Amino acid sequence: MIEREIIHTTTASKRIFDVLQDFVQFLLLFLRIFLEMFVMLIQKVLPKSLKDISGEVVLITGTGHGIGRELALHYASLGSTVVCVDINEKNNLQTVQKAKRLNLGDVHSFICDVSKREEVQALADRVKTEVGPISVLVNNVGIMPTHPILQQSAEEIQRVFDVNVFSQFWTIQAFLSHMEEKNRGHIIALSSIAGVVGLSNLVPYCATKFAVRGLMEALHEELREGPYKNMIKTTTIFPYMTNTGLCKHPKVKFPSILGLLDPKEVAMRIVEAHRSDTLEATIPSCLLHINNWTRLLPDHCGLMLKDYIDSGVESDLI
Ligand SMILES: NC(=O)c1ccc[n+]([C@@H]2O[C@H](COP(=O)([O-])OP(=O)(O)OC[C@H]3O[C@@H](n4cnc5c(N)ncnc54)[C@H](O)[C@@H]3O)[C@@H](O)[C@H]2O)c1
Repeated sequence: MIEREIIHTTTASKRIFDVLQDFVQFLLLFLRIFLEMFVMLIQKVLPKSLKDISGEVVLITGTGHGIGRELALHYASLGSTVVCVDINEKNNLQTVQKAKRLNLGDVHSFICDVSKREEVQALADRVKTEVGPISVLVNNVGIMPTHPILQQSAEEIQRVFDVNVFSQFWTIQAFLSHMEEKNRGHIIALSSIAGVVGLSNLVPYCATKFAVRGLMEALHEELREGPYKNMIKTTTIFPYMTNTGLCKHPKVKFPSILGLLDPKEVAMRIVEAHRSDTLEATIPSCLLHINNWTRLLPDHCGLMLKDYIDSGVESDLI
C-alpha cells in the first residue's frame, strides 16, 4: 500500500517536472523569437548588407527574353560568370551579344528545352565541362496560357506544368551535385503573384506557380535538415505583372500605384533578394504583407478587397 503511494507520488512529481521543463523550453523559444524579431527590426532601418557575388557561376533559364535577359545582364554586371539557357537560340545569343557589347563579364549561351529531363541532364554535364560547376541556379523559365479553364486544351495544361514546374525539378536534380562540389549554392525560383492569389483566366498557370511555392518551401526544409545543412540557400520570388509581353491583355485599375513593372527593376529586386539571402519576396514587397493580412479577414471581406483592386489578365482568345 505504502509502496504504491510512493510510486504514485514519484510519477506525479515526474509529470510536474516534465510539464515545467516543456514550459521553460517554450518560454526560451519565445524569448529567442522575440530577440530575433528585435534584431530584424534594427536591420530593417540599417542599409541592407548584400553579399558579394563576383566569382559565382550563375545559371539562369529563359534568358532569351524578358526578366531572364535582364537577370543575365545584371548578374554579369556584378562580376558573376553567367550561363544563359534558353530554348530559343537566336534570342539567347542576342542576350550574350548584348552583355559583350556592354563589356559585361563572362557570359555563355546554352540551348536546352528545360522541360525535358534528359536535355537538362546533358546540359549539366556540358556546363560542368565547358564552364565549370555552377553555384547559383535561377529557375526563371515560364509560359502563361491565358484563357478560361474550359478553353485550355489538355496539351496546354500538360505543357504549362512541364515548363513551369517539372523543369524546376529537373534542374534542381541535375545541378545540386555542382553545388555539392563547390560546397555552397543558392537556388532561386520564379513563382508569381499568381502563386499567392488565384486569378481567373489563369487556372493552370496559378496552379503551377502555387506548385513552385510548395516545391521551394519543402526543398528549403529538406536542405535545412539534410546533408546540405546551411550549404545551399533558397529564394522564391513572386513578381506582380511585368512588362515583358507575357501578360498579353493586362487589366490594371490603378496604373499609377500598381502598374506593370519594368523587367530591369524586377531583375534588380531578384538579385537583391538573392544577395540578402531572403527566403521569399514579392515584388513589390508590400504585396506579401497585404496578402498575409487579407487571409486573416473573413472570406467575403478578402473578396471585396480583390474586387476593388480589380487587377489581372483578360483572356488572350478575345
Ligand atoms: N511577365 C510577368 O508579368 C511575370 C509576372 C510574374 C512572374 N513571371 C514569371 O517570370 C518568369 C519570366 O517571365 P518573362 O515575362 O520574362 O517571360 P518571357 O516570355 O519574356 O521569357 C521567357 C523565356 O523563356 C524561354 N523559354 C520558354 N520555354 C522554355 C523551355 N521549355 N526551355 C528553355 N527556355 C524556355 C523563352 O524562349 C523566353 O526567352 C516566368 O517564370 C514567369 O512566369 C512573369
